[in-house]
Amino acid sequence: MKTYKPEIIVTASEDFAVTSADYLWNIITAIDRPLVAWPTGTTPLGIYKMLVEKYRSQKDVWGGMRYISLDEYAGLAPDDERLFQNWVGRELLDPAGVPAENRITFNSMAEDPQAEAEKMERRIAEEGPIDLAVLGLGGNGHIAFNEPGSAFDSLTRLITLSEDTRESNADYWGGIEHVPQRAYTLGLKTLSAAKHIVLLVSGAHKSAILDAALNGPITENVPATILRTAPKVTIISDEDAGEGSL
Ligand code: PGA
Repeated sequence: MKTYKPEIIVTASEDFAVTSADYLWNIITAIDRPLVAWPTGTTPLGIYKMLVEKYRSQKDVWGGMRYISLDEYAGLAPDDERLFQNWVGRELLDPAGVPAENRITFNSMAEDPQAEAEKMERRIAEEGPIDLAVLGLGGNGHIAFNEPGSAFDSLTRLITLSEDTRESNADYWGGIEHVPQRAYTLGLKTLSAAKHIVLLVSGAHKSAILDAALNGPITENVPATILRTAPKVTIISDEDAGEGSL
């Protein structure tokens, strides 16, 4: 397996959002109609606020941006606030003026999940490659919803969420009983084919898993280790998360 050294940017905690926003802004503004996967989670929230501010000063940039879902809960109605496409919509795409027709999303209510996953792969084949995949790092090493044990050659599919992941998302939705059991995710092979991957990591609670992702054995038990086999990966970490590994 060929491996690569990711580019690593370490910031002070207070600079994490601004450094990340500037870095991402420079990528998306350099590409015509970039196809971008944006993550949900606590990590990107401050970054999205800054990107929206940049939109206010340079509106023309976002009109051509295309969004693709990284992952999505299954079985939720189109107006459910828990849907990740609605979450990213509220935090970034709506205020930044990305039109609905530029958003490639999962149909959470699809009756045939296999066909829905295949549809997403087909759309990436037709409209891709993904120019930029922005990722968070799960406490268990997941990227998107590729939980530990996901095959490195996995494609987009419906998965069952791990208990740790449902627990870590429980606070957003007022208890674990509100976190769906199943979700769609772009596959690890699908994500690895993105032209550029940026992994965002902040907080001391991520330092052990970031260390495993960067310095531990490359293994499907830590899905983020696949990033060491992709040619263009940037990791932006604050000092707290980088403690001990960077
Ligand atoms: P977080 O989630 O940004 O809320 O820590 C990251 C993830 O689980 O992908």
